[in-house]
Amino acid sequence: MRIALLPGDGIGPEVTAEARRLLEAVAAIESSLILDIETFEWNAEHFLRTGSTMPPDGLNTLGQFDAIFLGAVGDRRVPDHIALRQLIFAIRQGFDQYVNLRPVRLLRGGHTPLAGRGPADLNMIFVRENCEGEYSGIGETLNPGTADEVALQTSVFSRRGVERILRYAFELARSHALPLQSVSKGNALNYTGVLWDRIFVEVSADYPDVEATNLLVDAAALHMVLHPEKFGVVVASNLFGDILTDLGAALVGGLGFAASANLCPDKRFPSMFEPVHGSAPDIAGRGEANPCAALWAAGMLLTHVGYPMWEEAVIDAIETVLVEGRVRTRDLGGDASTSQMTDAVLGALRASAARTAES
Ligand code: NAI
Ligand code: MG
Repeated sequence: MRIALLPGDGIGPEVTAEARRLLEAVAAIESSLILDIETFEWNAEHFLRTGSTMPPDGLNTLGQFDAIFLGAVGDRRVPDHIALRQLIFAIRQGFDQYVNLRPVRLLRGGHTPLAGRGPADLNMIFVRENCEGEYSGIGETLNPGTADEVALQTSVFSRRGVERILRYAFELARSHALPLQSVSKGNALNYTGVLWDRIFVEVSADYPDVEATNLLVDAAALHMVLHPEKFGVVVASNLFGDILTDLGAALVGGLGFAASANLCPDKRFPSMFEPVHGSAPDIAGRGEANPCAALWAAGMLLTHVGYPMWEEAVIDAIETVLVEGRVRTRDLGGDASTSQMTDAVLGALRASAARTAES
């Protein structure tokens, strides 16, 4: 299994190192999994040296791999809209990774700010459209720098793009026997929202066994807080999915528990796995980042390459550590370092694998 690591900036390299340790620990137990991991330092330094975050043939290079693991990019010395577009958006769009899968799940031992709620109430999975929509990157600035300046940002919603993301979400809902929520804004977005809703009605007809609801994005934000237990598979456009999954992260213990997969479902190109969080310059270099989002994202990578039992094992191991409560990073109110937290998770993972092997 050839895996490309893109550590990126800030805490990106710190959490990527932990994800690598996890993958190597799993490969040490799972004899059929043989890893060949290569690291590419495509980050702010690369941009400052060459004028680009990724080399011009970067996609060709990454195309040789089975999967990509990304830490995070973002550095004060490089404009965010350039750094992110040159790397993350280039990979998502270039490799047709049109599904951005983001679990929003409260782990056992985790903390939610919602009073009286527990893991049974907070377990949803977001399917975010990842290649077009509001983030298509098309637009123009007219009369730049003048009093008549106008910025145009074009949302692109194609029938093909909307239909395939809705079908992916319906298939997921069907296979997990979950309800589905489609999030849009068909009242105000009188072109793109209307098209999304129309295709939603068409696709729903093919899935009479899936309980499907159409929600306006603002109402969806309200209901996620008041009635999170009603959510199952949530499908949304690029921008809406981005915003609602940060709300989701807040509901399940913060960005330290938000993992994400950018999938090219037909596997024509490699898929990419990453924590949802950014480079966190405020804590970078201190070894205090919570590695759990990156570890979980590595678990999602293992599912994608044929080892779903290992993603469950990773989640289980994180839960064991949270329930024990002895090892906690700063965001969880403790003082464990990034690598101490990973040590604890790997310890739980190995212990559980050893118990399974015995029984
Ligand atoms: P951020 O996610 O980097 O940080 C937000 C807050 O959460 C900070 O207070 C940070 O310390 C905390 N945080 C994030 N991850 C954490 C972890 N694993 N453990 C403990 N605390 C954690 O978002 P922010 O500050 O808005 O952006 C920083 C940079 O990252 C910017 O340059 C932004 O463009 C970039 N960014 C990159 C992303 C990516 O590479 N996928 C995603 C989001 C932001
Ligand atoms: Mg985001």
